[in-house]
Amino acid sequence: MRYLIKEGIIVSSQGQEKGDILIQDEKILQVGQGLSPGDEETEVIDGTGKYIFPGFIDTHTHFDLDAGDFHTADDFYTGTKAAVAGGTTTVLDFTTQEKGQTLKEALDAWHALADGKSSCDYGFHMSITDWNQEVRAELTDMTRLGVTSYKLYMTYDHLMVDDRRIMEILEAVEQEKGIIGVHCENHGIIARLIAREKGAGRGERILSHPRSRPAEAEAEAIHRLLVIAGLAGTPVNIVHLSTALGLQEVEAARRKGQQVFVETCPQYLALEESVYERPGFEGAAFVCSPPIRTRKDVDSLWQAVGQGRLDMLGTDHCSFHMASQKIQGLKDFTRIPNGLPGVEHRPVLFYSLGVVKERATVEEMCRLLSERPAKLFGMYPKKGAVAPGSDADLVIWDPDARWTIRAADQVQAADYTPYEGLEVQGRAATVFLRGEIVARDGKVCRERKGQYVSRGPRQV
Ligand code: URP
Ligand code: ZN
Ligand code: ZN
Repeated sequence: MRYLIKEGIIVSSQGQEKGDILIQDEKILQVGQGLSPGDEETEVIDGTGKYIFPGFIDTHTHFDLDAGDFHTADDFYTGTKAAVAGGTTTVLDFTTQEKGQTLKEALDAWHALADGKSSCDYGFHMSITDWNQEVRAELTDMTRLGVTSYKLYMTYDHLMVDDRRIMEILEAVEQEKGIIGVHCENHGIIARLIAREKGAGRGERILSHPRSRPAEAEAEAIHRLLVIAGLAGTPVNIVHLSTALGLQEVEAARRKGQQVFVETCPQYLALEESVYERPGFEGAAFVCSPPIRTRKDVDSLWQAVGQGRLDMLGTDHCSFHMASQKIQGLKDFTRIPNGLPGVEHRPVLFYSLGVVKERATVEEMCRLLSERPAKLFGMYPKKGAVAPGSDADLVIWDPDARWTIRAADQVQAADYTPYEGLEVQGRAATVFLRGEIVARDGKVCRERKGQYVSRGPRQV
């Protein structure tokens, strides 16, 4: 199938230019001005007044995740459909190694969850939870199998790794030219503050969740991680950064010459801590870790976005139903499953709250949501670029569409959205995945077309 998109505003991190894009089969064939369809079979699409972005990449999803007592509402079928509905054509999901498991076993398990079911392309980060010499020896196999990024946790009893192992893993992954993302929260502080909240009779209070995971807990862990990475002599990626205090630690390390990548999430740009004080149990809808922060944190993160100091916007999409799952924490805030849905609405949240409000440019949107992740995670220019030879993953973005986010209209499976009733501007009018139209105006028109993306070493 051939398509010619005429007269769109083609966006890259470096600028925007009016032009035409010729697509043949899975690839972009030509980008230029005054292109002609060539034959009658070619479908011509008018791009006038629309932005054309390279397909968006969500660097952080948890689909079909078994989180102990709960299983996420979205699996790869619903989660990736939601992704393309919003303009995301590639997701990077987190494979988690269970204790005693090899990395290959974990990877095979995630392939079984995603293969044949996914409506967008997908790759896997590997969360290492059980580090030993056998696992060390598997890293080259992981590279060969297209896994070049990892996650480590500094909290959660069953997932966390200690400082010595963090340093060893950073050094080992550097040999592969991979990258490690780290969940930075101080485990001890959180455990003590949870005990304090419960001891003071505040176990039913949802506000106890952010109170037991303060900004200092994130900043301390970031500081410690960056000391470790500095001594290891490796770059590192801070995932889901939520605080101004944490950002200060990043900036201090960067001033010393360290290479630090930062991902934040739409919930830390769109929401404020007061959500935890909503009436009744409503605040449980926003329980995630790290928690939603203060207005000051939100403003600092937007400022950093505007100044090009952040690298990626991933959702940390980890969805649970309110009615049947979050409700289990009614009497004990620590039993509320952690995580929010977001994969469907990330592009429009960034466009509405960032671009429309002039806190970010469309170029920055392209950089954070597509180009930078493609480079850091070894997919560029197959992904992340509107260029001849790149995969024809494209979003024709209508900048003028106005609509309201409602759970009743969403594709993702969770029974709510944290952004219910939010009036937004902008929409993925047409979404191409490797040359096929898979979504129009928020509705999926072709499903299960996603393929595994075997990734290379980091390119930054
Ligand atoms: O609350 C969250 N973020 N759940 C997902 C797991 C994680 O730490 O990323
Ligand atoms: Zn995390
Ligand atoms: Zn996560």
